[in-house]
Amino acid sequence: MFQDFKLVGDRPVAIQVKEYIKRLIIKGTFHKDQKLPSTREMSSVLKVSRNTVIAAYEGLEDDGFTYTIPSRGSYVAAMVDRLVADNGGDDASFAWQIDWKTRMSKYAVSAAELDMMKQGIRAPRGIISFTSIAPDEQLFDLGDVRRAFMDRMAIEGQVLLNYGYAKGYKPLIDYLMRYMENKGVDISGKDLLITSGFTEGFDIVLSALRPSARRGTVICENPTHHTAIKNLKLQGFEITGIPMERDGINVEQFEAVLQKQTNSFDLAYLTPSYHNPTGIVMSPAKRSAVMNLMMRYQIPVIEDGFNEELRYSGAHIAPLIATAGRGNGVIYIGSFSKVLFPGLRVGWVLGDRALIDTLESIKRARTIHTSTIDQSILYQYLLNGNFEKYVKRARMEYKRKYELTKACCDTHLSEAQLSGDGGLHVFLTFPAGVNTRQLLEACIDQGVIYTPGDKFFIHEGEGTNTLRLGFSRVTDEQIERGIQIIGQQVRNFHKACGHKNNP
Ligand SMILES: Cc1ncc(COP(=O)(O)O)c(C=O)c1O
Repeated sequence: MFQDFKLVGDRPVAIQVKEYIKRLIIKGTFHKDQKLPSTREMSSVLKVSRNTVIAAYEGLEDDGFTYTIPSRGSYVAAMVDRLVADNGGDDASFAWQIDWKTRMSKYAVSAAELDMMKQGIRAPRGIISFTSIAPDEQLFDLGDVRRAFMDRMAIEGQVLLNYGYAKGYKPLIDYLMRYMENKGVDISGKDLLITSGFTEGFDIVLSALRPSARRGTVICENPTHHTAIKNLKLQGFEITGIPMERDGINVEQFEAVLQKQTNSFDLAYLTPSYHNPTGIVMSPAKRSAVMNLMMRYQIPVIEDGFNEELRYSGAHIAPLIATAGRGNGVIYIGSFSKVLFPGLRVGWVLGDRALIDTLESIKRARTIHTSTIDQSILYQYLLNGNFEKYVKRARMEYKRKYELTKACCDTHLSEAQLSGDGGLHVFLTFPAGVNTRQLLEACIDQGVIYTPGDKFFIHEGEGTNTLRLGFSRVTDEQIERGIQIIGQQVRNFHKACGHKNNP
């Protein structure tokens, strides 16, 4: 006995001893009312100080695992044991084996089926990976974040550690209201809910607006954000996709679909700036054309503003919600995941006050609120003026990488049409026949991966000649080398196809 006791790094030794003895009691090595070895014996076998064992024994008694008989020692307390069969007293717990697969709801099964992260390509160490569009963590200003945390904790640490409000941390809400006002949004009659990133905000909005008597209908850009497609499907929405052009969604096709559809769509989901995956920014002319259509057909719009701040060049373009003026038809979902820190999981929903009031209740029912600590760190970070400094640096760095990526694509992948005016990625469309999933297999063998574009399309079989290159987390050398390798594999692909066609 006790041979398997091993101390680990930084954890207090008395706690490790307490937990070790607890495990022995739970496993049945020590029985009810059995006397534990004396503190002297225990300290000698475990090779720890006697005071450590005394502290561990006190801890066991505090936790209800042992009791003390004065001047005799510590004894194991009665515990709810493992399940015991009615008839025999044997351990019967093995007989309670549920086949969880058969118990899963339709929602759960679909969530697993649509979970690309689990089915995605594993990147072996050393591979050049263009799959991520997360920010480059080398840019994170840790000192400023640490200061923001310390500052806020000093001001109201005790309050922050207690429950907060479902709607969000009030100073952050006020800050974001002003922030959106500075983007040209008329905030009268509107309110704001803090969420755990865009994804939760989107899910809450969908659950609020999903019709209960029939499947919901949504119209959006095609391709679009994969997580949005997934959540729309999970919430039972029927999705109609409208193709993209160089300056945003194809408005003529949009209108044609609206004219044909007998019932108006329940929702439109649009990403007007640095759209994922195409990176396209919708032109001001298209923005007003789209908004006019939405108004004419009375369709509520969910605007995804996730990448808006990552503008490298060109004039500021107001979000759709600003174009809507006093109208309440646009629900704007913002996020700090790309422009700051995705790990904080802070996003927001801005929209009609009565709508936000209901969304607040859904948020409370689901998660009570987003971590107040996270919200308050972010608030203090913004208040301290760090955001402007950081964004300036991040924009410069991403712009540089964007230009390098574009130049490499022009050199090595000139047959592909490149789209993307900013943000953290570019999108390539190859001539029909270049299957980017097949191409990927060859690229993996050469140590490069990217995201095949078909996963962003609404229907299977679409976009098989497209791919997305995320450049935010790859070095300059990797960008140059990776794109050169992809170019070589495209040439090999054509050669192989040529051989097949002319045997
Ligand atoms: C289109 C789009 N919207 C929003 C987000 C951000 O989501 P979240 O705030 O949940 O991290 C992403 C992240 O990749 C995205 O691509």
